[in-house]
Amino acid sequence: MSIDAGRRRFLKYSALGGAWAACPRWVSAETLRNAPTAGFHPDVELDFTAKLARVEILNQGPATAVQKFFGTVRKGPANSLVQLPNNYLGPILNLQQGQKVRVYFTNQLSEATIIHWHGLHVPQSSDGHPMYTIAPGEQYVYEFEVRNPAGTSFYHSHAHNLTAEQVYRGLSGLIVVRDVEEAKLDLPEGDYDLPLVIQDRSFDNRNQLRYVHGMPQRMMGFLGDTILVNGKPNAGFQVKSRAYRFRALNGSNSRIYKLGWDDGTPLTAIATDAGLLARPETRPYLMLAPGERIDLWLDFSGRAVGSKLTLYSLPYSGAMPAMYERMGHGGMMHGGIHQGAKFPIAVFEVTEKVSDSPKLPEKLVPFRRLTAADTDNADSPLPIALSMQPMRPLLNGMSFAMDRVVEAEKVPLGSIKKIRIFHDHSRGGHRGGMGMMGGMRHGGDADPNPEHDMGGMGGAMMNMAHPIHLHGQQYQILSRHAADTDGYASVKDGFIDSGWKDTVLVMPGEVVEIAKPFQDYKGLFLYHCHNLEHEDLGMMRQFYVY
Ligand code: C2O
Ligand code: CU
Repeated sequence: MSIDAGRRRFLKYSALGGAWAACPRWVSAETLRNAPTAGFHPDVELDFTAKLARVEILNQGPATAVQKFFGTVRKGPANSLVQLPNNYLGPILNLQQGQKVRVYFTNQLSEATIIHWHGLHVPQSSDGHPMYTIAPGEQYVYEFEVRNPAGTSFYHSHAHNLTAEQVYRGLSGLIVVRDVEEAKLDLPEGDYDLPLVIQDRSFDNRNQLRYVHGMPQRMMGFLGDTILVNGKPNAGFQVKSRAYRFRALNGSNSRIYKLGWDDGTPLTAIATDAGLLARPETRPYLMLAPGERIDLWLDFSGRAVGSKLTLYSLPYSGAMPAMYERMGHGGMMHGGIHQGAKFPIAVFEVTEKVSDSPKLPEKLVPFRRLTAADTDNADSPLPIALSMQPMRPLLNGMSFAMDRVVEAEKVPLGSIKKIRIFHDHSRGGHRGGMGMMGGMRHGGDADPNPEHDMGGMGGAMMNMAHPIHLHGQQYQILSRHAADTDGYASVKDGFIDSGWKDTVLVMPGEVVEIAKPFQDYKGLFLYHCHNLEHEDLGMMRQFYVY
C-alpha cells in the first residue's frame, strides 16, 4: 500500500474512531525491515548483537552478569566502533554527518529487544519504535543517513515494558557525530575528547546487579546506590594541564545529577543533547536528567601537577514528592543515595604539565534561534500534560498504546509546532479540579503540612520532576515558567536552554514551552518520560507525522 493510501485509511479510521485512531497497518507492516534495501548504499555497515555477558564492573570479587551490545564493523572506518575496555556499555558509535549507515542487529538474548538511536533524526523504521521489537534469534536491519550535526547521542534498548531493566542491565552506549563545522573549531580531540557516561546501579553481595520492581521504585524511579562513570565505580581521570571535552551523558534510569566542582569552580558547556551551542555557556553547576547530554569543556590549564578536583552531584531538592524526599525514597531501606543528595562522581588528577591547550572558542557554530513566530500554532500549543495516578504516570491523561494516536498527536510533515509541557493534577484522579496552580502550591519541598502528603497516592502530592524526551528532530526551548520555591531555586541555574534539545527536565510546577520541527520523515515518533520506570509504566505517547 502506498503511503497516501495508508494515510487515507488512517484518516478514515480517525473519523470512525472519535477521540483516538488506530494507526494504519502500513506503519507496522510495510516498514518492518529484516533485509537490506537494494537502493541504499551504506558508507558504514555494522553488525550489532545484544547478548548476555560477564563483566568485571567492581574492582574485586566476581564478575557481574550483564546484557550488552556488541558490535563489529563490516564496512567503513575501523573506528566507527570503539569498545571501552572490559565494559557493559556497548561500543562508542563514531559517525560523520552525511554518512549512510546500515546496522544489522541480531537479538541473542532470551527476551525481546530493539535499539533506539536517541538523539539521531532517522526514519520511523530505523528509530527503534517498540513495535519493531524482535524476538530472540531475529534480526532487524536499520538504514539511515546521519543528518544530525556534530554532537553526542545515546543508543539504548526501547523494548516496551523491558526498557528500564534492559538499559539498567547494560543495553546502552554512546554515539558521537562529527561534522565539518566542528572540525573548523579547535576543540579537544583524540585523547582529550572523552566520554563521561554517568549511571547509578545497585549490587548484591555477589556483585550482581539488583533491580527492584516494587511500587515505590516504579512510581518514583529506580535509584542505585553505586555511581558508575563509563561503566566503573570510583571513577578517576588522570589529566594534563590543558582543556578537555567530556561528553557527559546521564544514562541512569531515573537519577538526576547536579554537576559541579567541589571548590565552586563554574562549569562550561559547549553542547547540549545532540548539538553544539552557538557559544559556550558557563554556569555554577549543570543539571543533567536521564537521557540528557552536556558536552563539558573542562580546562585544567594553570592547575599544578598533583592537584585533584572532584566533580560532584551537588545537593538539590524539589524533584521528588515531598513525602519521598523526607523518607529518602528507598534510600532508607537500602542504605542508598536519595534523589538530590550530594555525592562524588569522579576525581580528576592533574598528572602532567603541558603548554599546548586549545583556547575556548568564543563562538561555536552558526545557530538559528527558533521563536514562537517560527511555529504554526503559537496561540494553541500542543499539550503534553504530566500527571500521576497510582501506578500510572500519564501523558495528556493517557497511557501508551502501540497503535494509537489522538487528533492532537497528528502533525503535518514539515511543520514546526509549539508544544507546552506542564503538570496537570486535575488528571490525577484523587483531587478533582486541582489544576496547575494546585500543583505549583505543592511544588518543591515547601509544603509545611505532612497531612497533605499522606492522604492518597495521586494528584498534586505525587508532583515530581519528569525528563521529557521527544524522538525525531531536536527542538529548542522557548520558555520556562516555575513557581518560586526553594527546590526550584536549587536547580534553576543549571539549565541550558539556548541549544538543541531532545530531552528536557520539567520540574514540579514548571511549564516548559518548546519549538519542535517535524521535518523530513513521516510516521510515528514517540515522546515520553525518560525516567525509564515511568516510560515502562506507560508514560509514553507518539506523534503521527503525515
Ligand atoms: Cu532515550 Cu525513546 O528514548
Ligand atoms: Cu516521569
